[in-house]
Amino acid sequence: MSVEEYLKKLSVEEKISLIVGAGFSRIVFGAAGETRAIDRLGIPSIVLSDGPAGVRIHPVRVGVEETFYATAFPNEILLSSTWNIEVVERVGKAIGEEAKEYGVDVMLAPGLNMHRIPLCGRNFEYFSEDPLLAGEMAAAYVRGVQAVGVGATLKHFVGNDQETGRMYIDVIASERTLREIYLRAFEIAIEKSRPWAIMAAYNKLNGKYCTQNEWLLTKVLRVDWGYKGLVMTDWGAGDNPVEQIKAGIDLIMPGGDKIVEAIVEAYRRGEISEEIINARASKVLEIVLKSLKFKGYKYSNKPNLDEHAKIAYEAAVEGFVLLKNNGALPISLDKRVAVFGKGSYQTIRGGLGSGFTHPRYVVTIVDGLRERGVKIDEKLDKIYRGLLLRFFEFGEITSLFRQYRESALKTGNHGAIQWLLSDFVDTMIEYFRTMNIQENFFDDATLDDIAKNNDIALITITRISSEGFDRYPAKGDFYLRDDEHNLIERVSKAFHKCGKKVVVVLNIPSPIEIASWRDLVDAILVIWMPGQEAGRAVADVLLGRVSPSGKLPLTWPKELYENPAMRAFPGEPREDPKRVVYEEGIYVGYRYYDTFAVEPAYEFGYGLSYTKFKYEDINVEFDGNTITVSFKVKNIGGCPGKEVVQVYVRAPRGRIEKPFQELKGFHKTRALNPGEEEYVMIKIPLKYLASFDGGKWIVERGLYEIRVGASSRDIRLVKTIEIDKDLCYATNWSPIQCS
Ligand code: BGC
Repeated sequence: MSVEEYLKKLSVEEKISLIVGAGFSRIVFGAAGETRAIDRLGIPSIVLSDGPAGVRIHPVRVGVEETFYATAFPNEILLSSTWNIEVVERVGKAIGEEAKEYGVDVMLAPGLNMHRIPLCGRNFEYFSEDPLLAGEMAAAYVRGVQAVGVGATLKHFVGNDQETGRMYIDVIASERTLREIYLRAFEIAIEKSRPWAIMAAYNKLNGKYCTQNEWLLTKVLRVDWGYKGLVMTDWGAGDNPVEQIKAGIDLIMPGGDKIVEAIVEAYRRGEISEEIINARASKVLEIVLKSLKFKGYKYSNKPNLDEHAKIAYEAAVEGFVLLKNNGALPISLDKRVAVFGKGSYQTIRGGLGSGFTHPRYVVTIVDGLRERGVKIDEKLDKIYRGLLLRFFEFGEITSLFRQYRESALKTGNHGAIQWLLSDFVDTMIEYFRTMNIQENFFDDATLDDIAKNNDIALITITRISSEGFDRYPAKGDFYLRDDEHNLIERVSKAFHKCGKKVVVVLNIPSPIEIASWRDLVDAILVIWMPGQEAGRAVADVLLGRVSPSGKLPLTWPKELYENPAMRAFPGEPREDPKRVVYEEGIYVGYRYYDTFAVEPAYEFGYGLSYTKFKYEDINVEFDGNTITVSFKVKNIGGCPGKEVVQVYVRAPRGRIEKPFQELKGFHKTRALNPGEEEYVMIKIPLKYLASFDGGKWIVERGLYEIRVGASSRDIRLVKTIEIDKDLCYATNWSPIQCS
């Protein structure tokens, strides 16, 4: 039967029940939601599950021997640091396959909000400060998931770029800012991947909840962009379900009977037409009919976790960013390594909240090093393990939760079991596990001894963050704690005295302050939140089995408040923010730093390698529609490596104010051996050069500089093209007269 035929057979009440979710999933335990079934017509419930770093379902179920672990992939901020579309697509596909085998029909991922401020608690779930990089990465992820017949959801549409007040904060931004930055990422991702679903965000946008914002959900999404898929709410978003359906929401999540009743009543009162209900229900039906559940797919509950672990590893090694290296790396296998920092022994796989994961295992940094044959200082290892065991295993909270859970399982107390098995408890356990400990517990003599007996020191610094909270601008979060700073300082002193080097590994969800201490150490490697294969990937990069090839998807600030968006953070009034004004406008990230000549700690697109690349032979062609940039990249260093090449465009000084430059294309080369080169060709659609001005898009005439670089501030090749007349487009990109 077609969607139209189903619509004819359904009563209005049934159609309304389709557009309101059925609560958290009962079919797949731990999945975030499901739609309502209509048994008499064979319409099944479809299951929706988080979240960007892997399928978030609960790994154990009451009375069931079998387990349901899902791979913990690297978080999105790492995926975008790979700048590798194929790798991200492969991760998406593996996540799709796990969803498929666990009976999940739609993934609630990827997250596509912007890295507007370094402190956003969900930056780890988002890709970039740049809409092109974010949009391309999201598109790759979606294509991967959907290649196996599972749907993907772009979230959170739009402006959920901070967690403080996320359920109600009013984001005030100009249309130009929205169209060029925040909406643009979604627009690119939709165009390049046709996601099954979009999730409207919790926050308000220019006075209206996103879920109740007709301009956003209907004018922009449906009319301007021609989006054909389903639009759902974030969980419990907004304050008026009838307004939501009228504004363009097709599915209210997680839903509930009260919401169904409210809409039925509104319909009976004539406040909402059957036509609108039909339009919304048809979107739900379209997705149901496409689903594996509807097609009768018999899921195995046995995804190929071994194969997916390999993909998690491959993405991780490509997304680490080497910020500094004074010849400390790579480490040769005969060197003895002193491993410091709790995070080396309890490496953090990912962030908390709906982006949490339940993998079979996490390889810690120290275990990864050991597995790869590195000689680590066993005495130091013992000290840390003893400490962590005392603190975390026999320590209060974690074991208490575990004990409760086990006894509830034995006694069969179902209410308690549901709760104790729930994510909340696991998240609490993870929170306590990842809590920081006092790091500076060595006396000078011990440190001197360790420095004497080892060849190199490795210190891991960790931070955790979660949905629902922003990170805080103080010691212990954005800044190092005193004990962390002292550990770095004292270890460096002891090792440098013996002519030995110190490497810092940053296992963090988004940037921390670095400028005040980076000179103390010899190398800094950012591993973000690398998923379950963390330790193996870290070991291989440290040992030089793989040259680092990740580059920053965001600007790393020197000082927190130099970021222009921080001035308005967390909103007004400060004590209890109700609105946040995006007063920096389009000057987000490098667009601000470059235009106003501010020096960051590390610029957008930055990342070192163990080898060196030469760029040559640039050629730029323009056929009236597309700019084709080609050039060669040659590995002129001593070891194999991949290079991320970036194309920025600097617009002429015209009537409209513009950023100094903007990313318009990028590419990651294959692994090039020393002496080997790759011919790179990047195509830039002309419309990518447009600015939003007075209700339309415009590419102003003049000379455009095409800047090819290894980062936003390491431009290697430049060529200019001329556009001889202004070109204008309507909001749906059809060409129009400029005047
Ligand atoms: C989050 C979403 C998530 C949903 C379902 C919300 O709190 O903001 O990202 O998909 O919960 O778990």
